[in-house]
This record gives sequence, C-alpha cells and structure tokens, in this order.
Amino acid sequence: MLAAACAALLGAADAWADTRGEQIYQRACLACHGPDGGGLMPGVPDFTEAGGPLSKSDAALLQSTLEGVQRPGVPAAMPPKGGDPTLTEADLRAVLEYIRRSFAPGAAP
Ligand code: HEC
Repeated sequence: MLAAACAALLGAADAWADTRGEQIYQRACLACHGPDGGGLMPGVPDFTEAGGPLSKSDAALLQSTLEGVQRPGVPAAMPPKGGDPTLTEADLRAVLEYIRRSFAPGAAP
C-alpha cells in the first residue's frame, strides 16, 4: 500500500519534470535549437547527430548551459541559461533531460 503510494508519487514527480523540461525548451531554447533539436541557424549544433553535443556528460552540458558557449569560429553563441536569467539549475537539469530523451541519437521519435 505504502509502496504503491510512493510509486504513484514518484510517477507524478517524473511527469512533472517531463512537462517542465519541455515547456522550458519551448520557451527558452526552441528559437535557436528548433522543434526537432537540429538547430535553426548556422552555428547551432545538431543534437540528433551521433558524436554531437549529447555525447558529452550531463555535467559538461549543465556547465555549458549555465555559462553559455562560444567556440572560436562558430558564427553564433549559446547565451548563458539560453538567455533567460530566471532559469534555475533545476530548470536546466529538467530541460537537458528533456533534450536527451527527445533528441539523443537513437531516442524514440
Ligand atoms: C540565441 C540562440 C540560442 C538559444 C536561445 C539557446 N541556445 Fe543552446 N546553443 C546555441 C549555439 C549557437 C550553440 C553552439 C555554440 C558553440 O558551439 O559555440 C549552442 C549549444 C548548446 C549546447 C551544446 C553545448 C556543448 O557543450 O556542446 C547545449 C546543451 C545547449 N545549447 C542547450 C540549450 C538549452 C537547454 C537552451 C534553453 C535553455 C538553449 N541551448 C538556448 C544557441 C542557442
């Protein structure tokens, strides 16, 4: 009984994190990264590419997302927190999880 209640609660927390990541993506990341994670302008990496950004560790991606990225020679920059200073580290973890689940090479469409 208790186990079932815990499982239900955990399921609800997962579902909440899922939609939260998706909502943040749509609000703060989609304009550059696109609805399918492929990138909408030159310099934005393709998340779906094997060996692309999602081959990095969670810690590395969290750091890039928190601090922003500007590699030399790349015609666009990733702004810190995607340009939304109101996002927390927990928000960024949720959105990175959404990105992995949705766009990682081999992820279900
Ligand atoms: C203004 C456009 C823009 C927005 C908005 C944006 N990104 Fe980016 N993002 C970029 C660009 C450009 C790069 C590649 C930068 C480079 O390699 O120099 C990038 C790279 C990344 C990477 C790869 C980092 C790495 O270490 O390889 C991740 C992960 C990422 N973005 C996540 C996000 C998330 C999450 C959001 C929303 C919270 C977001 N981006 C919003 C433009 C954007």
